[in-house]
Amino acid sequence: MAYLIDGKVISKQIKDELKEKVSAYNKVICLAVIQVGCDPASTVYVGNKKKACEYIGIKSLAYELPEETTQEELLDIIDKLNEDDNVHGILVQLPVPKHINEDCIIQAISPNKDVDGFHPASVGALSIGQKGFVSCTPAGVIQLLKRSNIDIAGKECVVVGRSNIVGKPMSMLLLRENGTVTICHSKTKDLKEVCKRADILVVAVGRPRMIDASYVKPGATVIDVGIHRDENNKLCGDVDFASVEPVAGAITPVPGGVGPMTIAMLMNNCVEAGMTE
Ligand code: GUN
Repeated sequence: MAYLIDGKVISKQIKDELKEKVSAYNKVICLAVIQVGCDPASTVYVGNKKKACEYIGIKSLAYELPEETTQEELLDIIDKLNEDDNVHGILVQLPVPKHINEDCIIQAISPNKDVDGFHPASVGALSIGQKGFVSCTPAGVIQLLKRSNIDIAGKECVVVGRSNIVGKPMSMLLLRENGTVTICHSKTKDLKEVCKRADILVVAVGRPRMIDASYVKPGATVIDVGIHRDENNKLCGDVDFASVEPVAGAITPVPGGVGPMTIAMLMNNCVEAGMTE
């Protein structure tokens, strides 16, 4: 039986620590959240971000823009928020509609307010060990490991997936913690053999239940970043939990593992943004 890494408990701990920090601070911290269009999943995520702000005591400014908003109009709003000293964090919920260039929007946000950690300057800072905002999901994974007393230094860490938001920053963070890191992707040969070397296996491939026990070394820590609905409308991850759980040493469930950590780390970035002026 694997130790269950409880993201609900750990994210609550982090949010409570932040709440205390904010209540002892004598200025208002403010996050601007921009949603263009009304993608239902984005509306749920944005709603959860606003709720988390409320819980912690961060002011949130909601920009709910119509689908037809032009790139220029969006850039104009970002510019104004960049200039506004009362706004500490800016988040544009992704994806944006097709007529808007996502890279262009990400690059328009001041790196000082880039609480998502998506700006090239933030990504670059992470890769050369300088201060900057770190992408929330991989930062959350590191917190799950640290707060579960799972050592990273010297461990074989295998990351499956190389996205800009999870796989790449995840690898850089594990490296920063002195892990020995391998990044796998769709062209990796002998994926199973590489995964089986891992002491810490982080899976962010976006394929439901792809990783079963045959990919996992007995006793390994398995972190599942995926979230899907299966054919029975049940939530599941990229890891086949029922197969892997008896083999792993520790494992994150889906839901209730990595998911809640993303918002907790976003809140952490907002507090940092508000307190470093
Ligand atoms: N869409 C899905 N996840 C995220 C996220 O972490 N940040 C933003 N801005 N958009 C997203």
